[in-house]
Amino acid sequence: MKFETPEGANPIDRMNVVGRAHVRIDGPLKTTGTAPYAYEHHREIANAAYGYVVGAAIGKGRISAIDLTKAKAAPGVVAIVTADTAGKLGKGNFNTVKLLGGPDIDHYHQAIAIVVAETFEQARAAAALIRVDYARAEGRFDLDEALKTAALTGGDSDDGKPAVDRVGQFDQAFAAAPVKLDAHYSTPDQSHAMMEPFASIASWRGDELTVWTSNQMIDWGRGDLAKTLGMPKNKVRLVSPYIGGGFGGKLFLRSDAVLAALGARAAGRPVKLALQRPLIANNTTHRPATRQHIRIGATKDGIITAIAHDSGSGDQPGGGPETAVNQTKKLYAGANRMTSMHLAEIDLPEGNAMRAPGEAPGLMALEIAMDEMAEKLGMDPIAFRIKNDTQVDPEKPGRKYSERQLVRCLEDGAKRFGWSQRNAKPAQVRGGRWLIGMGVATAFRDHMNMTSAARVRLGKGGIVTVETDMTDIGTGSYTIIAQTAAEMMGVPVNAVVVKLGDSDFPVSAGSGGQFGAANATAGVYAACVKLREAVAQRLGFNSADTMFEGGKVRSGNRSADLAQAADAGELVAEDKIEYGKLDKTYQLSTFGAHFVEVGVDAYTGVIRVRRMLAVCAAGRILNPQTARSQVIGAMTMGVGGALMEELTVDTRFGFFVNHDLVGYEVPVHADIPHQEVVFLDEADDKANPMKAKGIGELGLCGVGAAVANAVYNATGVRIRDYPITLDKHLEHLPALV
Ligand code: MOS
Repeated sequence: MKFETPEGANPIDRMNVVGRAHVRIDGPLKTTGTAPYAYEHHREIANAAYGYVVGAAIGKGRISAIDLTKAKAAPGVVAIVTADTAGKLGKGNFNTVKLLGGPDIDHYHQAIAIVVAETFEQARAAAALIRVDYARAEGRFDLDEALKTAALTGGDSDDGKPAVDRVGQFDQAFAAAPVKLDAHYSTPDQSHAMMEPFASIASWRGDELTVWTSNQMIDWGRGDLAKTLGMPKNKVRLVSPYIGGGFGGKLFLRSDAVLAALGARAAGRPVKLALQRPLIANNTTHRPATRQHIRIGATKDGIITAIAHDSGSGDQPGGGPETAVNQTKKLYAGANRMTSMHLAEIDLPEGNAMRAPGEAPGLMALEIAMDEMAEKLGMDPIAFRIKNDTQVDPEKPGRKYSERQLVRCLEDGAKRFGWSQRNAKPAQVRGGRWLIGMGVATAFRDHMNMTSAARVRLGKGGIVTVETDMTDIGTGSYTIIAQTAAEMMGVPVNAVVVKLGDSDFPVSAGSGGQFGAANATAGVYAACVKLREAVAQRLGFNSADTMFEGGKVRSGNRSADLAQAADAGELVAEDKIEYGKLDKTYQLSTFGAHFVEVGVDAYTGVIRVRRMLAVCAAGRILNPQTARSQVIGAMTMGVGGALMEELTVDTRFGFFVNHDLVGYEVPVHADIPHQEVVFLDEADDKANPMKAKGIGELGLCGVGAAVANAVYNATGVRIRDYPITLDKHLEHLPALV
């Protein structure tokens, strides 16, 4: 099915099932421990040996000698694979750096060996007996230093456009603006820190490989594993039915899958391995740190006339920038604009996508800048944002937003949150020992179209089975896909069986970039349209006017049980959603407003979040319960980004020091107060037949700045360097007497 024109009325609009709250259908399996995660496929694989990954102990250089003698002789050891014995390996399209290093080492904890043994403890003990001698080289580990000579880069520069995107004359307009802001912001390296580690079980049968793994994008992972191992893609099967969080870290093939496959080949039996927690920060990817420079010029009454945003970040050679200027290109009006990115080559582990890459760190800066600018103008920060709303893409004014309800999000949120109670003058509100402040920020994230396929079967008893390689990373994919098929076929959710995460199934959008829910359900919609036609045909009904409702199929005055259509044998339909140019004609984005109240301890500087509210407009909300869970999870992540999360770089030896969940802090329940989420009514007919857009990343976008702005409102101390830890403002807090 090709989606090329705005969608008219369709069966989803009935919203008998879609659009209604429904508990996660995989919930009971998870809460009873019976949903198998990557490391737990004991039913399929009974005799797996255990793999243990050895990470490089230097940040840059070479292995000069590696001695496996003692390790090989250790109890229980079955096999050891290093770059010397792995055979020729390729590199995946989505990997910047080789997943098995040696002799050259590109970054700290790059994998250099897998030890396979009868038990986990034996593998670990043997790994400790491997002797590696390194010749350390000078590495580039200091982002600020590297950025001094970093080149301009541009997402757009590949297709011949300039690396600096300009509209109008920024320099002149900024110079002439009566009110100006010129400020620098920084965000740190962040780790996905998902609960389930990267894990894989690999099993060979002849030249065919099956890997049970934890991966958000089955088809990307399958292709890159085949490419890395130099084998045909159709000889690789990836299975990933349940995933304990990914946040972008599991978008790509990682060392666990490659090394499990190599270890299993060497051992001649299946191998299971989970990356040790300390390897996750340095062996896998992370969100790159940014150094951002924002300039805004406005008229005295608050109309933005000039806006510029530059973001610098670093990555391994061949890697890409953190695209933190994304939102600044589109979010606010302003006739003169300039955005650019600098990319430094550094030798820290490779950076890549983490939840809302680009917008998440970009808004952490831009939305503080908007707060600062509002203060300079003497305007309410909500009024300032509303004044600079735009209904068109400001870089290409001929392109309208398909839907843009930012103003309503801000106004509705202000009412609900009690924004009128905020004292615009900072450090005025006191409750006991607490300095109390409120902050607001815009949430903005693009919606992306992705091709997505599914197969639907109508079987005995009218049971509908959906098969697609879509993944559920804790987001609710199983549930919304079941709801979609139920709505289309006119059956209850419990008459739908959903099978996900297997490369034997049709290729879906996968889970990433908040594109999963809308695109994967649109693919299921397309397959269901075909199945409805097949049902009508088999029943001898005219498919054009056939209705599917309450387990019945009706056409004119004829009616039959849906199940009847499968009496003569199962009906199977497969299709995919593909997109035309509507996303070029229109800008598809999602919007919201985040409100935060904090208390800052006047004596110690400790920051506590007291209340949070998000108001979101993101197309049709397929399931308000799972969508709300996505948003409150994202808001929680935003608090982490604002107040805690930071991979600390050792710039001498080149690694992230705090590589576990003790040193890398994320919020726990006790850190998170009352959270409220409101969805505005919206059905975006230019997005897809579901009229839905992404929501999971929108919930994070802007949260950090809303927290930062609340802290400023509480204390009067402006921190532009995340995370906002008490040491950064303690000295500057208001006097106590
Ligand atoms: Mo998301 S960072 O695309 O999983």
